Amino acid sequence: MNWEEFENECINCRKCPLCEGRTNVVIGRGSKNADIMFVGEGPGEQEDLKGIPFVGPAGQLLNKMLIAAGIEESDYYIANVVKCRPPHNRDPLDEEQSACINYLRKQFLLIRPKIIICLGRIAAKAIINPEFKITKERGLWIERKNTYIMATFHPAAVLRDMSKKKPAWEDIKAIKNKLIEIREVN
Ligand code: URA
Repeated sequence: MNWEEFENECINCRKCPLCEGRTNVVIGRGSKNADIMFVGEGPGEQEDLKGIPFVGPAGQLLNKMLIAAGIEESDYYIANVVKCRPPHNRDPLDEEQSACINYLRKQFLLIRPKIIICLGRIAAKAIINPEFKITKERGLWIERKNTYIMATFHPAAVLRDMSKKKPAWEDIKAIKNKLIEIREVN
């Protein structure tokens, strides 16, 4: 499957009821040759309106942290577990995530990132382990099939609770270091 086929499939998707309320399917943004892929939870209001992930307040904070750590736009691609906005920004339901997760798998296959970063609990549970505990397990690297995977706090959680800012910043710096490390090896 190529990008065009993939994007057409997403745009026409009616696999779950979230399609009824969407303005846009929010597929992803960033470099299609990226070494890092960030995965959030699902589009918010701004993302639904623009059709681009992480353009609202959480995305702006993430952008600032990435720039401060020296992670460039060409280094990453960013997408979500679900590609249509859940009403009132509620957590995506298990059945919505199950209906959508194959799109994320296809994105992993198209991009083949060397580093995957789960932004928050929902992405960590969907990608790493359904029992994942974000407060305890964030910042820890796992290696799966030559890919390094880590979860950090969702930037929206950092905006709500500033005590999460320091650990989130430590994680972002660790991501930059991992990027340097994998580029030294390859
Ligand atoms: N929060 C997310 O998880 N994803 C977005 O795209 C925006 C906010």
